[in-house]
Amino acid sequence: MRRLDFDKKSIERRKFIAENYSPMNAYLYTLDNTFFDTRFLKIVEAAKKSNLEQMLKYIDVVSKEQRIYSFPVFTRKFCQDFIEEINHFENSAMPKERPNTMNKYGILLNEIGFDDFLTSMRNIVSQISNIFYADWGGKDLDSQKAFTVHYKEGQDLELATHFDNSEITLNICVGNVFTGGELFFLNNRDCYDVNSIIRFIHDIGRGVLHLGNQLHGAMPIESGERYNIIFWMRSSKVRNKKCPMCQKAPELVPVLDEGDGFM
Ligand SMILES: [Fe+2]
Repeated sequence: MRRLDFDKKSIERRKFIAENYSPMNAYLYTLDNTFFDTRFLKIVEAAKKSNLEQMLKYIDVVSKEQRIYSFPVFTRKFCQDFIEEINHFENSAMPKERPNTMNKYGILLNEIGFDDFLTSMRNIVSQISNIFYADWGGKDLDSQKAFTVHYKEGQDLELATHFDNSEITLNICVGNVFTGGELFFLNNRDCYDVNSIIRFIHDIGRGVLHLGNQLHGAMPIESGERYNIIFWMRSSKVRNKKCPMCQKAPELVPVLDEGDGFM
């Protein structure tokens, strides 16, 4: 019942925002190749040809065992304009629903008009996920949820260890000036061994790609502010068999919207 109520309210918010919000950088809402770092485009082209050797020229393998990869995604120009747009929306009188209880200052991108952008983005990233995560729905991605996170002194500072409600996550840093706040990934099989923690320092425009069930979190930011786009990609083929949150076979119920990607 709560789920249906949330979907109904979300649809109402989207409708209101579509009719009343005036974007500052309207061009951002239609995904274009000029938004991407040229190295990202080369990775995608190599992925289309299943040329792993060529892909790895531009990809940092953060952990081969845990299948964590990092690579440039967006240009600085895109990142700057995107943050400007997010702040413009935040400062507007538009209705805002936060992504989840751990994130009080984020924006749900699908609610503010980025639906087509996100579907196009999923189709592009799926070329890469098809190579790295074919066994985890990487070739069958069919829905997504995306939101921003914002860490700043006096607001949200860090994010406790968790896993994502996604099959595959792309976490992209889009700014701003900050120190600290690195991501950490735990060895799922031995998560209390501090020696097994993998730390990842974000650069602006760079993304880190990982499985949603990979335990991770964010260290406290020490100064400045950090914005990231969190892009959760889902495969109904995978999650219809086993819910990524509770690990049980899900009981499917009709929803008004995409719900959590079960279909
Ligand atoms: Fe996460």
